[in-house]
Amino acid sequence: MSGTTGWSGRYDVVVVGAGHGGAHAAAALRQHGFTGSIALVGDEPRLPYERPPLSKDYLSGDTPFERLLIHPESYWQERDVDVLTDRRVTTVDADAHRIGCDDGTALEYGHLVWATGGAPRTLSCPGHELDGVHTVRTVADSDRLRAELPAVTRAVVVGGGYIGLETAAVLRAAGKHVTVVEAQDRVLARVAGAPLSRFYEELHRSQGVDIRLGATVERLEGDSQVTGVRLADGELVPCDLMIVGIGIVPAVAALRAAGAVGSDGVEVDERCRTSLPDVFAIGDCAAHRNRYADDAVIRLESVQNAHDQATVVAQVLTGTGARYDAVPWFWSKQYDLRLQTVGLSAGHDATVVRGEPAMGRFSVVYLRQGRVVALDCVNAVKDYVQGKKLVARQMRVDPALLADATVPLKELAAVTPAPS
Ligand code: APR
Repeated sequence: MSGTTGWSGRYDVVVVGAGHGGAHAAAALRQHGFTGSIALVGDEPRLPYERPPLSKDYLSGDTPFERLLIHPESYWQERDVDVLTDRRVTTVDADAHRIGCDDGTALEYGHLVWATGGAPRTLSCPGHELDGVHTVRTVADSDRLRAELPAVTRAVVVGGGYIGLETAAVLRAAGKHVTVVEAQDRVLARVAGAPLSRFYEELHRSQGVDIRLGATVERLEGDSQVTGVRLADGELVPCDLMIVGIGIVPAVAALRAAGAVGSDGVEVDERCRTSLPDVFAIGDCAAHRNRYADDAVIRLESVQNAHDQATVVAQVLTGTGARYDAVPWFWSKQYDLRLQTVGLSAGHDATVVRGEPAMGRFSVVYLRQGRVVALDCVNAVKDYVQGKKLVARQMRVDPALLADATVPLKELAAVTPAPS
């Protein structure tokens, strides 16, 4: 890890963003035999670490930071990757193949890999800057939140996505009163289908979480510290802490200013190349054409996607010619339930439930025109593993067989022909 500021130099590859995507891009380059020089530039003061626990086991205090590190410092040293921490890339000169950082560091690159993810969206209503209002994206965010928890009695969580629901579960387990305010008519709308949303709403309610759907925040009350949330219908929900989990804004300003094509994020082709010469983009900020989304251009916010796209870049740069074509998957953990989603359920026209929702062990299979497009699996790892093949091949399967939880999905995958 380097703390040197105002430094200049040249690397064959500069990776910008030291999260999951950036860290894996640097690691995968070495795994694929890349011998050139590599810098990994990040704006946090730490080595790359796992973000998913920040709203789960790290927030609850069950996992220490050391267990979050993706690799120890020695890993990067042994592989001759310069990890340049604590500096934010603010300018990209695509013609000169040069980047500039907020601390004066200037680097020339042979190839640039943009893996900056995104920043949490924040509320814009009156009071949004009051003390006690938190977002969760970095370990520093999670630390600030944890430090306040002992004094908290009532919390309001805005947003019923992964961040909102996972933090709600942790806060409930810590004995706090929790209200979730979700703008849409169901939770988890970005990543899961409606049957799953209903299940998770009931789960949280059974744990004592007050879930408000179709609810929006008008303003936050308080002088310096937040004391309550005024909803659009006039109700005041008192609180001494707020968590805002309303999605992310892709961190692509410098790349867009340099001329990279994109609107929501930066557009990349199947090799993760942006419109700028020798510049790749991967992970949450990379808008790509995805065959699991009916060939729409989408961004996928998941560790797995960052990892898969990082591998593609490493393969492209080492001449092995890969194309991105991974089956999307996502996961979440709330209370003692592990949710694993494979595929994208948007646009489905039928659902089949396998197993026993009442027992907290089941899957929802999503079909479009008779073909399996996604599964949401709750404490059902086998369905998730075996269902992946059905999704990858978009297989046509008899719904009655899918509904029979005694028939393993791998048997259906074996007997069902792939689509023509
Ligand atoms: N008020 C209430 N709810 C809102 C508002 C608002 N003003 N704006 C958005 N929402 C809701 C959305 O409808 C959605 O259900 O907030 C939720 C945000 O969910 P996600 O988009 O999944 O974002 P978030 O949970 O913040 O996760 C951000 O962290 O865990 C990762 O994979 C995750 O990359 C994602 C990121």
